[in-house]
Amino acid sequence: MKIKFSDNFLFGTATAAHQIEGDNKWNDWWYYEQVGKLPYKSGKACNHWELYRDDIELMAELGYNAYRFSIEWSRIFPEEGKFNEEAFNRYREIIELLLEKGITPSVTLHHFTSPLWFMRKGGFAKEENLKYWEQYVDKAADLLKGVKLVATFNEPMVYVMMGYLTAYWPPFWGDAEKAFTVEANILRAHRIAHELLSGKFEVGIVKSLPLIRPLSPASAEVAREVDNLQNWYFLDAVFSGELKTPFGTVRTGEGDADFIGVNYYTLHLIGNVDPVEGLYRYDFGGYGRTQMGWKICPEGIYAVLKEASRYERPIYVTENGIATLNDAERIDFIARHLYHVARALRDGVDVRGYFYWSLMDNYEWDKGFEPKFGLVEVGANFRRIPRESARFYGTVTRERRLELNHGEEPTP
Ligand code: FCB
Repeated sequence: MKIKFSDNFLFGTATAAHQIEGDNKWNDWWYYEQVGKLPYKSGKACNHWELYRDDIELMAELGYNAYRFSIEWSRIFPEEGKFNEEAFNRYREIIELLLEKGITPSVTLHHFTSPLWFMRKGGFAKEENLKYWEQYVDKAADLLKGVKLVATFNEPMVYVMMGYLTAYWPPFWGDAEKAFTVEANILRAHRIAHELLSGKFEVGIVKSLPLIRPLSPASAEVAREVDNLQNWYFLDAVFSGELKTPFGTVRTGEGDADFIGVNYYTLHLIGNVDPVEGLYRYDFGGYGRTQMGWKICPEGIYAVLKEASRYERPIYVTENGIATLNDAERIDFIARHLYHVARALRDGVDVRGYFYWSLMDNYEWDKGFEPKFGLVEVGANFRRIPRESARFYGTVTRERRLELNHGEEPTP
């Protein structure tokens, strides 16, 4: 069967500063990498900080018309009140090069990493620290000229869960009640950034939205609450200003989002546990097929896109991808997910773009360089080697259509 996408649909790839740039020495992740609290060091990562011109050239050659990346707060403000003009100018150059090549930039302001000095003051756990965030956002307003899409935060709930609830990631907290305080402050930070930047840019939020379902009918109610806690209460609060948490409702202030970014990878099946526990205790349906152990569930993207359309805002699939050593599997993954994105479009969901994670293999946080998410392999001396999937995706983006050989997918 054939699928057709409109001419203005964005087809891009996604990356994040700490995962590709290299030498991001001023943030909390780098610090914990050095002191041995994290199993892998990002080091030079993909050396994108030096090879950015080649990378943009490559994207253009491959035919992608959009690119999502993040700017690193700690490069722009390595110390409290100290502005780094060189970093600012480098990001400017990246944006200008993208625009020159006709690639629509989509920029994330916070993608998991924060300046070490900010974290030493308590980071997002303290509401009074939002003044530092405001200074950064203010600078970003100058930096981002010409950019269309600006996302304030990447996956706020993943950030909160990994760093403050399970304590697998910096800053290794492990305190459920405080985790929800951090979530509330991130909502406030989003509101501040939206107020400062909206009008000049389309300012949205990027949310991880796994498909969350009960392991058996007996856990239907728990699964619904986990789904709300992980996927929807945050988004509800962006608009309503009231954040529901297991510890009561917190007033964060009414705000807005000009678009919703959906990061979709997999399905979480929830058993009979406490809903807060359900945030990090789940099952991938008996088998994990990717290098991350994540189940491949293409029809889930249709379900979450439909559910996210309740906010009546444009939606971008800001991340979708697979870590695999088998590139044919990547091609199949992309085709199947795009099929379900097309179904959502056909059913009236306002999806305006799709960004594959990731342009190239990179530093996958606490998993290091092992998982291969890239359309492009990074070889010795950082050589970029496009895989077959990079060409396949390029053909899709140029022709704006796709043929599926395996017929209809099941409907969730
Ligand atoms: C997402 C992150 C991204 C990357 C992918 C695999 O949760 O936003 O940085 O690590 O997962």
